[in-house]
Amino acid sequence: MILVVDFGGQTAHLIGRRLRQIGVAIEYTTPEDALKTVKQTNPKGIIFSGGPSSVYEDSAPTVEKEILQLGVPILGICYGWQLMAHLLGADVKNTAKEYGPETITIDKTLGVLRNISDSNFTVIVSHGDSVMSLPDGFETIASTKSVKYTAVLNEKEHLYGVQFHPEANHTQHGMDVLSNFVAICKEELKPISLDPEKIIEDIKEQVGNDKVICAVSGGVDSTVAAFLIGKAIGENLIPVYVSGLMRPDTDELVKYIFSKLIKADLIVVDAKKRFLSALKGITDSEEKRKTIGKLYVDIFQEIASKHKDASFLGQGTIYSDVIESKGSKHASHIKSHHNVGGLPKDMKLQLIEPVRNYYKDEVRELGRLAGLPEEVVMQHPFPGPGFAVRIRGEVTEARLEQVIHADKIVLEEIRLAGLYDKLFQCFALMTGAYSTAVKGDARVFAEVVGIRAYESVDVMTSQWADLPHEVLKRISSRIVNEVPNVSRVVYDITTKPPATMEWE
Ligand code: XMP
Repeated sequence: MILVVDFGGQTAHLIGRRLRQIGVAIEYTTPEDALKTVKQTNPKGIIFSGGPSSVYEDSAPTVEKEILQLGVPILGICYGWQLMAHLLGADVKNTAKEYGPETITIDKTLGVLRNISDSNFTVIVSHGDSVMSLPDGFETIASTKSVKYTAVLNEKEHLYGVQFHPEANHTQHGMDVLSNFVAICKEELKPISLDPEKIIEDIKEQVGNDKVICAVSGGVDSTVAAFLIGKAIGENLIPVYVSGLMRPDTDELVKYIFSKLIKADLIVVDAKKRFLSALKGITDSEEKRKTIGKLYVDIFQEIASKHKDASFLGQGTIYSDVIESKGSKHASHIKSHHNVGGLPKDMKLQLIEPVRNYYKDEVRELGRLAGLPEEVVMQHPFPGPGFAVRIRGEVTEARLEQVIHADKIVLEEIRLAGLYDKLFQCFALMTGAYSTAVKGDARVFAEVVGIRAYESVDVMTSQWADLPHEVLKRISSRIVNEVPNVSRVVYDITTKPPATMEWE
């Protein structure tokens, strides 16, 4: 077993997921419990995850220095490496900041860089602090243009550090780095596969003969969750779809899913008026998300009061929703996903979230293995708070109509160009910025529409898509011509990290 010490990094849980892919059993611990857990469980190796803190702050999470002296191989990732260096007396400072893709250059193919044939490749980095000097006994094996100690080792003490994130999907050779560490730990490999049947059995055991009200959106996560719950409890599943901020086409898709694929009596709640009224005057993105979350809760409470025999609320929460909503002790709060953490403490319904511990690509695979068709599991994700988080500033009916119209154009053109399946997501958003245009010889001062299109596997990192200029040209021309009150169209060319996929 390899023990992951979670310092609160956005991708800390992803480390475990990658190790599972390699075939290694993992456990998690907090920094506070790390030494005790190491002594109790005798792991073959330890990984210190990244985290949002700075090692030199008084409140920064840390571990007892003794862990470094036990002879168990340790890989420190980002903050984990900085902490290792700090505990060993090296200086860590807020100097070389790097966010997003960077090129590293390998000096020596040793340790976790063994057998990697490319001497330069792309890695994902996300840090404001850097290690300024090497602790005694360490040598550097790779660097980037601004960070000297990007990969380091002290083979005698079995200590390894990387300033980049090998667990991120957009880090090239990331799996090689982790596999090399697993080999250093001499850990046995036992391939671990996804098992929807086990999840279905667990649901049966948890729910018994009770009823489950299940929040569905037509998207991959909630459909897979409802499908697994439906397989476990049959007609005791009560799916509920709240429309109003969703794509108009989704209303039809949800009806199709619950009449043809999952046979259950779908309850559709048209809440557009309630959403618009609750969101009136709200411009702050977190307040907006919380307002939407609260309204969802109210609607589900109302449904529950009419179905007194239901004792569970099913949701399609996945792990990336959890971690962005401050899913672990030392993690930062990035955004409040509508389905995480907003439920009232006195809620009578117990939560059931069958895919909570999985990433998007794993959820797709679970759906596939359970028997959902490819076009359902491979559809682009759509955020639960709907178009509201794609309208920067106040959500009004007019702006909602504008974004729905622009979004439809983006999707039509992307599908026409045969690009839909190559992208993780693509959409239009109202930026809240205004600019001057000339339409029919008259000055117009109107809103700027943004376009986002990117590739991703597990949501945690993404690369903006290099869309053909012809496609961008058509999208832009159609939006400024067909959508009322739009002055121009801009294309967002920012990776995640640092930029999240949605603007809010
Ligand atoms: P971000 O913007 O956080 O988005 O990089 C990651 C993925 O999650 C979707 N998203 C949400 N999904 N509830 C959801 O169900 C939410 O509150 C939410 N916010 C973002 C987003 O569309 C992307 O696929």
